Amino acid sequence: MNPTSSSLDGRALSALVPASRQRPGNDPIFALNAEARQRSEAGESILNATLGVLLEDDGRLAIMPSVAEAFRNVPPERAAAYAPISGDAPFLAAVIEDAVGAGLAEKAVAVATAGATGAVHHAMVNFLEPGQSALLPGYYWGPYAVIAQHARRSVRTFRMFGDDLRFDLGAFEAGLHESIAEQGRATVMFNFPCNNPTGYALDDREWSAVADMVREAGRRAPIAFLLDHAYAKFEPEGAPDWLRHVPTMLESATVLVAWTASKAYAQYGARVGAIVALHRDPDERRSLANALNYSCRATWSNCNHLGILAVTELLTDPGYRRRTEEERTVLKGLLDDRVAVFNAQARRAGLPYPRYESGFFVTVVTPDGEGTAAAMRDDGVFVVPMRQGVRVALCATPAHAVPRIVESLARGVAAAGGTPSG
Ligand SMILES: Cc1ncc(COP(=O)(O)O)c(C=O)c1O
Repeated sequence: MNPTSSSLDGRALSALVPASRQRPGNDPIFALNAEARQRSEAGESILNATLGVLLEDDGRLAIMPSVAEAFRNVPPERAAAYAPISGDAPFLAAVIEDAVGAGLAEKAVAVATAGATGAVHHAMVNFLEPGQSALLPGYYWGPYAVIAQHARRSVRTFRMFGDDLRFDLGAFEAGLHESIAEQGRATVMFNFPCNNPTGYALDDREWSAVADMVREAGRRAPIAFLLDHAYAKFEPEGAPDWLRHVPTMLESATVLVAWTASKAYAQYGARVGAIVALHRDPDERRSLANALNYSCRATWSNCNHLGILAVTELLTDPGYRRRTEEERTVLKGLLDDRVAVFNAQARRAGLPYPRYESGFFVTVVTPDGEGTAAAMRDDGVFVVPMRQGVRVALCATPAHAVPRIVESLARGVAAAGGTPSG
């Protein structure tokens, strides 16, 4: 008898397959958040910079009134009906235009997904064989690895930053070569601007080099390049237009965009997203649309119809468009103030961190992320530890609390053997 499913040792017989019996109980970020809340309820002064949603300075979730109105105005009998498996055509057209603009729309197909998370899932299962790995920068949003593992794929990383804390283009190119050599294909997953967890945004020179590398790799093997654009609407002032470089990649590769309403409309719970797929060849576009539609059927069948219909209005109605832009500008201003305070204080304290111009998070580099985060918890400051850094969620931190975080970061980095000079 297989001992892993035996009850001979007195334990209850588990019907879970072995891999499922090993799953960790809770997402580590949610676990940290629970500890922060407990200590706060016990009366301690706690600063919780772990969660990835935009909060007002008073700790309430930041929302956009026009979005709530659009949801309320969807006729109930339309919302109650099933959405088409790929999503309603007007939604897909509006998302494609929002994601890649009118100029590239004719080269794109899309399906609705459960947020950008669903888009990442569809990319994992359609552009990698079981056992193969997606290529990511070394600092990445943890669930990529969970999604990959659950789908019997994995992730491999390349060194994200050189010693100057700028994007390491050479390491990316080497990673592409290695993926192609080992598995005959490469599927790249980038998340810019406002990279989670570092806050980094590629500049125009970096985008141009990345596009050239993708094009060259695509001449030797099948390449899918996914841009997780979850934070697209929070890009820094004067950010480069990555779409300028898409035609270069499309000469040989498939380009994918993970689109989501979660951050753009501060509507995380609606689970409205899409994967947009671009290819130069119309037959291939048909195959892409079919493959992605099949994955929808095989997972959630159809997405949240209320959300799809409301977001379609938000994207297409001129009145809603104007109001959402205005409301988003206010939210972005809230975040930008925090970023400005952080940059001023963190530079003064000599904290090591990559270029950070906007975004929900920033990562401070430290030799021991766990040690730094533990030392900070002693100060009542909660951040998310990573192997070589700690992630600070400025999206959840009022500007007046940023100096306390920076002081604690400086102590935490020093405690872990890093060298802040302040
Ligand atoms: C980089 C990144 N991608 C995807 C997501 C998931 O977003 P969604 O709510 O659209 O699934 C997040 C959410 O935190 C994220 O930070």
